[in-house]
Amino acid sequence: MKIAVLYGGSSREREISIKSGKLVSQALKKLGYETCEIDTIESLETWIEKLGNCDCAFVALHGEYGEDGRIQGLLDFIGIPYTGSDAYTSFICFDKYITKLILKGNNFMTPDFLLLTRPIEKLPFGFDYPVVLKPRYGGSSIDVRIIHDHREFKKNIVDLFDRNDQILLEKFIEGKEITVSVLEDVESSRPRVLPILELRPRREFYDYIAKYTKGMTEFVIPSEIPEELQKKVEKIGESIFELFNCRGVVRIDGKLSNDDFYIFEINTIPGLTELSDVPISAKAGGISYEELIDKIVQAILEKGGMNGGNSRNNYSCGEKRW
Ligand SMILES: Nc1ncnc2c1ncn2[C@@H]1O[C@H](COP(=O)(O)OP(=O)(O)O)[C@@H](O)[C@H]1O
Ligand SMILES: [Mg+2]
Repeated sequence: MKIAVLYGGSSREREISIKSGKLVSQALKKLGYETCEIDTIESLETWIEKLGNCDCAFVALHGEYGEDGRIQGLLDFIGIPYTGSDAYTSFICFDKYITKLILKGNNFMTPDFLLLTRPIEKLPFGFDYPVVLKPRYGGSSIDVRIIHDHREFKKNIVDLFDRNDQILLEKFIEGKEITVSVLEDVESSRPRVLPILELRPRREFYDYIAKYTKGMTEFVIPSEIPEELQKKVEKIGESIFELFNCRGVVRIDGKLSNDDFYIFEINTIPGLTELSDVPISAKAGGISYEELIDKIVQAILEKGGMNGGNSRNNYSCGEKRW
């Protein structure tokens, strides 16, 4: 079987995706699959032609055009099964505002928030410093700012709106930063929550530098969270995976505060570099990098992707290609 590894692309997270893609491709080869590496920054004609010779696609793209449902929609039309969540789920989870509305509507905890559509002069009623400003769509902590006072607020709000159309204002949550990886388990048909990873950045928060520079974040795994709270978080992880109809592996970011898990976001294509959180959690759960990649692929082979036979939208299902 030939698997196309889609990586790179043109999003702000291109560099990370290149690293994820290379590692995924190596792992697939070790697992005995034939691979074809496709950097989606190439012209559409070129990479679609390459895709035509493949049986399915491993989507290792992060950020816009890769994680936001657009590639998934395109692959649905071409009729190539792909790893990870479908176009609907990808689109919803990429939108931090919609994600938070759904979380709130289903009684999950998420920091109080307000969507800003233009720069404002001062903090709205109900918010006190510190607050967090972040793009509605984004990742890798790019343009995420912790704001401590009015002077910082005025300076940052203008700057952020220069590069982003809409900004989320959130209450700052004090507490332990954790990330929860949830893996589709084909055998049990239940999502499997991997060991919770506690992150202790050596910076004010888990920003881009803390995320991608070796030594800038201490990873605590197994986390030092009381067992009862761990169980609560695991249950939340499982429920969220099902609520959002996730596939493959997802990573839920948030903080623990007063025994509540405040969810920041759901990543449908989490980083798969050596330093990334999901491979670290998997390893702690006894799953090697190759096994993790294999499980993500097996999920679409066994259960089908959007066009693999288990689809809400079977228009191009056709014959099975493997
Ligand atoms: N409401 C908040 N309270 C405290 N810290 C936050 C909050 N929102 C984000 N952060 C910090 O910023 C980081 C990135 O935010 P997140 O919403 O996960 O966006 P990204 O998609 O860029 O990872 C988090 O890991 C955390 O360290
Ligand atoms: Mg995050």
